[in-house]
Amino acid sequence: MTLAPRRGLFILLEGCDRTGKTTQVALLKEALSKLEHPVTSKRFPDRSTTVGKAIDGYLSSALNLEDRAIHLLFSANRWEAVQEMKRTLMEGTHIIVDRYSASGIAYSVAKGLPLDWCRDPDRGLLRPDLVLLLDQPISIAANRDGWGEERYERVDFQERVRSCFHDLSTHQDWKLIEAARDIPTVHTDILRHVQEAIQRSSDPGPLSFDLWQ
Ligand code: TMP
Repeated sequence: MTLAPRRGLFILLEGCDRTGKTTQVALLKEALSKLEHPVTSKRFPDRSTTVGKAIDGYLSSALNLEDRAIHLLFSANRWEAVQEMKRTLMEGTHIIVDRYSASGIAYSVAKGLPLDWCRDPDRGLLRPDLVLLLDQPISIAANRDGWGEERYERVDFQERVRSCFHDLSTHQDWKLIEAARDIPTVHTDILRHVQEAIQRSSDPGPLSFDLWQ
């Protein structure tokens, strides 16, 4: 009898724009690969799909949409990835994800949409096993190259997004990562949390499709 592989972990990095998530996802993936863990990565929005292309048009301001319409597109973009993510995890591969539902909520609440309304379309999505919130003062992000190129890169708006991430994190078991430190230090911190999660979960149990429920 062949035993099914131990399922992979869904590891999520969240945070405001330009907190170094993309760099840290790449470093984490490289580190886990070197440690011989099967691992892949994914980012939301996934701009390669039909829905993702509409989101990309919105973010670059080529397309205007109602706040609620774009919120639903971001959610649809996560739902359309569910089966692929499930397959990957069940094959025993860890997935490191750059943004997910918390971004969907934080950015829409920052626009003034009600929290419950924002959470509803994502209810029942796959729940992450570990959430790392990369956090730093917005003034640091605003000094980084390229700031302001996309729709949401405004200091007052990002302050509201950051505050919403903080509110969300108080009700969940998220790890707060101080992102204003140098890249290798942040990486070491993230890798420690992930290795602890991998060691803790000798049997991670079934996947949970109960996000926000
Ligand atoms: P990115 O820069 O990480 O590709 O994300 C693009 C922007 O989209 C970023 O400003 C955050 C925003 N966003 C939302 O507003 N809702 C969402 O559900 C997601 C995933 C991202």
